[in-house]
Amino acid sequence: MPRILSGIQPSGELHLGNYLGAIKNWVELQERYESLFFVADYHAITQPYEPELLRKRRREMAASILAAGVDPAKASLFLQSDVPEHTELAWIFNSVTPLGELERQTHFKDKAQRQGSVMTGLLTYPVLQAADILLYRADLVPVGEDQVQHLELTRVITRRWNAQYGRGEDYFPEPQPLLTPARRIMGLDGQTKMSKSLNNYIGLLETSAEIWAKLRPAATDPARQRRTDPGTPEVCNIYHLHRAFSDAATVEEVAVNCRTAGWGCIDCKKVLHKSIDTELTPIRRRAAEIAAKPQIVDDALAAGAARCRTIASKTMSEVKERMGFA
Ligand code: TYM
Repeated sequence: MPRILSGIQPSGELHLGNYLGAIKNWVELQERYESLFFVADYHAITQPYEPELLRKRRREMAASILAAGVDPAKASLFLQSDVPEHTELAWIFNSVTPLGELERQTHFKDKAQRQGSVMTGLLTYPVLQAADILLYRADLVPVGEDQVQHLELTRVITRRWNAQYGRGEDYFPEPQPLLTPARRIMGLDGQTKMSKSLNNYIGLLETSAEIWAKLRPAATDPARQRRTDPGTPEVCNIYHLHRAFSDAATVEEVAVNCRTAGWGCIDCKKVLHKSIDTELTPIRRRAAEIAAKPQIVDDALAAGAARCRTIASKTMSEVKERMGFA
């Protein structure tokens, strides 16, 4: 079975963007691949943070991933910091990563320009990400579009390390991204990517009423000023959310009624709200079960870390042997 690996930062709650762009895909892929999923807690400290909040959010993120359907019987779920080889391999990869490649990363440029003093961790963030992936010699990485540049850098690191230490073989496979149709979900403003830091998101575990309060004022086709104006579904974020949550017949109905002004935007949003509720109801139920039995999270994380440590220590001893440490 080919191996997949992916991670998510515990920098806030799971939202519809990373659910549709990544986690929902993990749930489907765990049936067909050897699956390793983790909470990237070491990546989270590259931004200013509160230790108490990190402690809480790591667990909450793991609980939400389980509620969304990742099954510990089929996939390994773990905390990155429970497998120390991630940072050990990252240090090694620093020695084959060109500085210019790191400085070119959009993630670095965006975040660095918003901060007064920039810490090295923000720059070397993608080196740790490369280590996350290559430690398990994963073939495929299911992510949203915003992670594709990091994966390209992982491939650069793979080629460089293989060329220097691979002894003529590709010890590390070059990992490929696995994108979903929902590779870039826009926020409620319709302008920017849905993200925790921009506060333009709907949380996976928000109540039906909370979701409606956010959907109601959400941006639609800006050209549709009045109820009677016909709209263009393709430029409307609500239509794109329908494509992610509603069945094909409803999506078609939405498109027709938007183009002919048969429905107003609020009518369209009510239908979307119902579709989102249908999808999230079983997830909310599982989240409540998990909250009542926190041991479920502890057990899943312990089993996941134990399995991953075995793979990680084997890779590290082979890497060290090839690099002259053993
Ligand atoms: P993070 O925590 O920002 O996001 C987790 C996953 O969700 C996807 N995603 C989205 N997809 C579609 N639309 C959106 N609006 C949206 N927002 C987020 C992301 O693409 C990602 O797949 N650096 C990573 C975590 C990481 C990682 C790794 C991932 C660390 N090591 C190794 C893969 C492999 C990150 O910050 O993701």
